[in-house]
Amino acid sequence: MAKYGSFPNTRPRRLRGTPVMRRMVAETRLHPADFILPAFVREGVGEPVPVASMPGVVQHTRDSLKKAAADAAAAGISGIMLFGVPEEDKKDNLGTAGTDPDGILQVAIRDVRAEVGDELLVMSDLCLDEFTDHGHCGVLDEHGRVDNDATLERYAEMARVQAEAGAHVVGPSGMMDGQIGVVREALDGAGYQDVAILAYTVKYSSAFYGPFREAVASSLQGDRKTYQQDPANWRESLRELSLDLEEGADMVMVKPAGPYLDILARVADAVDVPVAAYQISGEYAMIEAAAEKGWIDRDRAILETLTGIKRAGARTILTYWATEVAQRLLG
Ligand code: PBG
Repeated sequence: MAKYGSFPNTRPRRLRGTPVMRRMVAETRLHPADFILPAFVREGVGEPVPVASMPGVVQHTRDSLKKAAADAAAAGISGIMLFGVPEEDKKDNLGTAGTDPDGILQVAIRDVRAEVGDELLVMSDLCLDEFTDHGHCGVLDEHGRVDNDATLERYAEMARVQAEAGAHVVGPSGMMDGQIGVVREALDGAGYQDVAILAYTVKYSSAFYGPFREAVASSLQGDRKTYQQDPANWRESLRELSLDLEEGADMVMVKPAGPYLDILARVADAVDVPVAAYQISGEYAMIEAAAEKGWIDRDRAILETLTGIKRAGARTILTYWATEVAQRLLG
């Protein structure tokens, strides 16, 4: 036996030796255009209100939202996804403020469009939970259950007012059956054939939405398990996917991202439309909290999670770090 015969002649470490070597062989690169910033705007406040469970995230005033949108556009990200937080006394059982042309979300869409024009895609969350006093994503029947088809009628109206306010893209996120078809029909019927639908196609009932509920001051009693998916399942994600594509989704989203990378990879393999992933409030909070305690390298952890999400197949990533990361990538 030769002296060094047991040494390897194939050495993967050769391609990891220097930063420039690693950069050359990297299969996944993050780019500012990969990102969409979710943003909250709250009615009737004079100053931005910090969201305690999401350090660094605020409920914007109309003015601070415009500034955030301008910063996002300057950083080269692709879009901003808007969530409205109405005054508490404007919430009711139908979520009327969500379809009021002068409701906070519609006002915010108009503000941001006026600020950034077409430099940034203006997207709007199309869901009733921010506007209902019971906090559910739809309207309730006489037994207190979320009424699918009555909710669809509300979504149709919401789609029209959001498009009228200037949304480039609407994001139905309530997980009602048939929501994409109804929203497409409502948009087309009102002359908004060019408004795109980013469908929240795969949306699991997740503990990681916790901080979001604070961010939108949600008054949810109970849970969303009768309409959001069971984390134990993957097949129904493919079923949701074929339904949304049939109904006319332009892009499909998987949410949350981190705990569901297997689902994201399957969805990305299965479709030819762009796939988005939403790194949600709890995913954000965990890293910020661990970093605050000095238990994790914040900046590396953020890039690592985003790289993982892109590697799994996301074309687009919604993340509360969107602008910051884009600025970092621009160097
Ligand atoms: C529904 C909606 C939710 C999120 C985005 N759209 C809340 C929910 O379904 O419970 C969560 C986003 C996050 O946690 O960051 N309007």
